[in-house]
Amino acid sequence: MSNVILLLSYLFGSITFIMGLKMLSHPDTARKGNLVAAAGMIVAIFATIFLYVHKVDKWGHTEHLHNYVWIFSALIIGTIVGTMAAKKVQMTAMPEMVSIFNGMGGACAMLISIVEYHHNPHPGIGILLVIVLGMIIGTVSFAGSVIAWGKLSGNIKDKTIPGGQIINFLIFGGIIVASCMVVATAGTNGANASGLFYGIIALAALYGVLFVMPIGGADMPVVISLLNSFTGVAAAFGGFLYSNPVMLTGGILVGSAGTILTILMCKAMNRSLKNVLIGSFGGAKAGGPAGASKDQGNFKEISLNDTAVLMAYAQKVMIIPGYGLAVAQAQHTCHELEKVLNEKGVEVLYGIHPVAGRMPGHMNVLLAEADVPYEKLLEMEDANDQMGTTNVVLILGANDVVNPAAKEDPSSPIYGMPILEVEKADHVIVNKRSMKPGYAGIENELFFRPKTSMLFGDAKKVLQELVSELKNV
Ligand code: TAP
Repeated sequence: MSNVILLLSYLFGSITFIMGLKMLSHPDTARKGNLVAAAGMIVAIFATIFLYVHKVDKWGHTEHLHNYVWIFSALIIGTIVGTMAAKKVQMTAMPEMVSIFNGMGGACAMLISIVEYHHNPHPGIGILLVIVLGMIIGTVSFAGSVIAWGKLSGNIKDKTIPGGQIINFLIFGGIIVASCMVVATAGTNGANASGLFYGIIALAALYGVLFVMPIGGADMPVVISLLNSFTGVAAAFGGFLYSNPVMLTGGILVGSAGTILTILMCKAMNRSLKNVLIGSFGGAKAGGPAGASKDQGNFKEISLNDTAVLMAYAQKVMIIPGYGLAVAQAQHTCHELEKVLNEKGVEVLYGIHPVAGRMPGHMNVLLAEADVPYEKLLEMEDANDQMGTTNVVLILGANDVVNPAAKEDPSSPIYGMPILEVEKADHVIVNKRSMKPGYAGIENELFFRPKTSMLFGDAKKVLQELVSELKNV
């Protein structure tokens, strides 16, 4: 009977994961989707703790998990740390948190493989293969995510490694050879090969570090989603080892969602995955020939009053949000600006670049938090279609996603990335605090072009002042 309840709770968990994932695809239902999937996860965890039979003796007596002190201590510590981290995190630090949490998933998969390796004294070839694969992918994901976390938080800088491609190729070869040697010990006492086994972990960790280290500039979105899919695949291997359907479903869902996201991010950057991974070793880097060294002439500034007049008499205004809007936490003031303009009969739309901000969907989440109607958010292609009939484009803390070098300068590290073509509009107003570059570390010629005017200042402060100016126009 308890086995039937266990299976039903796994079925419930799997269904809620799928429903939750579906609901996450729209901002209106995303919050609920998260709760639905979490509820399924809680049911599956407690069903496993109390109903899972981990041993049956020769008389048919079953044994459930019993080391509750360990289990609940870990659960309580994890819950406290996770809740505190999620409550305390600033919206701008969200990408780093997602990255490190993803790394923890990889670390769990690695630990599962280590435990299973030692608890299976004479594993068959299939089991050993799953153990080794789960361990390699989990370790790469863990080490890579830690580096990604360091990069997103600004603690680790991009580093071109001389001969990096060859070194990584050699490490990869070493991992394959050592894994074959471990798998060849199938059926014998596994402990014989434990030195080799831990050697693979060390190599996989090194591979994870070296593979993410040089990738930088604008290519990080691809790496983040790729690491995400790695963790899912590693977790699915764990589910296979424990014959746990809910873990298997969860892992497959994360793995496939991460893979789809990787493809979408590659499309957004107009780069192939191979190009991102291989091109990063010694490819054109930020600050290189296309960097800050160019003398691009003068830029012109615009006053708040002139901006307000220009916008008040426009028919259509397109707001381009970027990472700076998240830094300034100006999403609510931005929505207020939109409402004031609407009252004056101005149509306001938002042009959303797929890699604006620091995590997939960053701008959508940010604006949804301020209750900006979802229909007003245009995807890049649709925004570009509307650009020709737009009177004023207001760029709020965005930089790389509107940089014309992506279209015009083959030596630029972001060359080929589709951008929001703001220059098709009548006027372009750029709000940022200085002339400093964005994430890719390259200058933006848009700021020096005839149609562009700079409106310097913190996005929130500028928007607050703009709203009061507009009320007086
Ligand atoms: P960025 O190119 O990073 O530019 C953001 C701009 O915001 C900066 O130039 C900065 O200039 C300005 N800024 C910062 N704080 C501000 C504030 N308080 N008020 C006003 N402006 C402020 O941003 P983007 O255009 O959104 O492009 C995103 C970049 O991040 C791309 O290169 C993308 O590849 C990369 N990336 C994306 C992701 C994902 S998944 N979306 C992940 C990792 C990396 P000042 O300092 O002069 O103010």
